[in-house]
Amino acid sequence: MSLNTNTWNRLRYTLYLPVYDLVADRIFRKYRKRSIQLLAANPSDNILLLGAGTGLDLTYLHGFHNLTAIDITPGMIARLKQRAESLHLPVRAEVMDGQKLDFADNSFDAVILHLILAVIPDPVACIEEVERVLKPGGTAMVFDKFLPNDQKPSLLRRFFNQIASTLFSDINRSIGHIISYTSLRQEVNEPAALGGTFRIVRLRKP
Ligand SMILES: C[S@@+](CC[C@H](N)C(=O)[O-])C[C@H]1O[C@@H](n2cnc3c(N)ncnc32)[C@H](O)[C@@H]1O
Repeated sequence: MSLNTNTWNRLRYTLYLPVYDLVADRIFRKYRKRSIQLLAANPSDNILLLGAGTGLDLTYLHGFHNLTAIDITPGMIARLKQRAESLHLPVRAEVMDGQKLDFADNSFDAVILHLILAVIPDPVACIEEVERVLKPGGTAMVFDKFLPNDQKPSLLRRFFNQIASTLFSDINRSIGHIISYTSLRQEVNEPAALGGTFRIVRLRKP
C-alpha cells in the first residue's frame, strides 16, 4: 500500500510551503534556467507549468504572456499567484490534478514538468495527459531524478523508497519506462544535479 496519494501530497506540501523556496530555489536554480533554455520557446507560446508549486520557474519566463500553471495544493497556487503578480507576469493559475487535466486536446505548445514526475502518484497517467494536451510538434521539459533506464532498484533501495516516496519523492522511477506508454520522443537527456541523478529531459510529441 502506498501513502503517495493526492490527499497526502496536498497535506504535506501545505506543511512544506513555509520552507519550500528555501530548499528548492537556490540548489535547483541553475537547472531550471537550463531546462527553460533548452525549451527554446517563443514568448507567445501557450505554456503549461504542471505541478508548478510556488512558481519558482516563473523567474525564467519573463516576457511570456500565455502561461498557465496548475498544482494540486491550494497554498502552492496562492503563493504562485503572488509571485506572478510581483513579477508582473500574467499567469492563469488553478488547483488541478496533473493526472486528469481539465484542458482540451492539443492545446499547449509546451509543458514544463519540473520536480513532478517523481512526486505525482501516477506518473504514467500524468505523462499521458501531457501527450494529450500538447499540440503535435509540442515540447515537454522534464527536470527530475530518475533511475537509469536499465537499472533495477535493489531490495534495500525499494525498502528505503517507502520512506523517500512518502516524505520527499520516489527514487525508483525511470523516464524511459514512464514515456514508453506514449508516443513522446526523447530528444535530450542530460545530467543535472547530484552527479547526474537528476536529469533534464526534452520530449517531443510527433
Ligand atoms: C517538488 S514540488 C515541485 C514544484 C515546482 N514544479 C518546482 O519545480 O519547484 C511538487 C509539486 O507537485 C504538486 N503535486 C503533487 N501531486 C500533484 C498532482 N496530482 N497534480 C498536480 N500537482 C501535484 C505538489 O503540490 C507540489 O507543489
